[in-house]
Amino acid sequence: MSTPRRVENLHTDKGKVPVYATGIVEQPWDDYSADDHAVWARLFRRQREVLKGRACDEFLEAQDAMGMTPDAIPKFSDLNAIMHGATGWELIGVEGLLPELDFFDHLANRRFPVTWWIRKPEQIDYIEEPDLFHDLFGHVPLLMNPLFGDYMQAYGRGGVKAHGIGAGALQNLTRLYWYTVEFGLIRQQDGLRIYGSGIVSSKGESIHCLDSDAPNRIGFDLERIMRTRYRIDTFQKTYFVIDSFEQLIEATRPDFTPIYARLAEQDSIPAGNVLEGDKLFHRGSGEGWATDADV
Ligand code: PHE
Ligand code: CO
Repeated sequence: MSTPRRVENLHTDKGKVPVYATGIVEQPWDDYSADDHAVWARLFRRQREVLKGRACDEFLEAQDAMGMTPDAIPKFSDLNAIMHGATGWELIGVEGLLPELDFFDHLANRRFPVTWWIRKPEQIDYIEEPDLFHDLFGHVPLLMNPLFGDYMQAYGRGGVKAHGIGAGALQNLTRLYWYTVEFGLIRQQDGLRIYGSGIVSSKGESIHCLDSDAPNRIGFDLERIMRTRYRIDTFQKTYFVIDSFEQLIEATRPDFTPIYARLAEQDSIPAGNVLEGDKLFHRGSGEGWATDADV
């Protein structure tokens, strides 16, 4: 099997991250080894168990509707046939994390890039960069949801725009992505639930974000989030809670251009801080928090 072509390391607000060749690759499905399929099966079963009563109903229902099972690594072409009729999203295979503008452009056109390779057995619990399990199990199900699918496309368009405005705007938008798409919580009738992909693809964080006293859980506030720094190598110190996907879409509908200008004048907020106006679901105990800097 070919190996992913890492083309450069990019210095971003997330530190040094690998960026891969931007080309679209066909999923080399026949080349997956028995080990690869076994990693998928083990992670899939484990997460579905952990996510009962933790992931939001929309996520679990969408994952079932897509026909994802532990039996084998899904074929992108099979999933595409289902998504085409549902929300028009299309999966494209990529080598890994893309340069920002390429990523935004794909989302703006309802193409979701999925890393074709899966982590090794010794990386079951943690991997520093997105792999097939994170992308496919974590991100793809909610693309079957009309509201969330629209949000992702709007985010892509907003990303192209922010990229043209400058680094500050891009940083504000990246924080929004981080605290919603990757690490978002949602309030369901029966309690707080997970919808963020970075959480649903991690056993440890799926438990931590809801069951632990350590992190803050704070009501969604667009500009507050856009000012808030975050953690890349530890569990989050703060999670933001939306009431519904409608709330997320409504709050992000306005043109961000004046907001970026306003935020450029304000300081960033450390990841664990609680502010006076915060709608607190839970004030974190801060137990076990890393003392080194947030990104
Ligand atoms: N409304 C945002 C803008 O004008 C675009 C956007 C939508 C960004 C949804 C994120 C999420 O830039
Ligand atoms: Co992700």
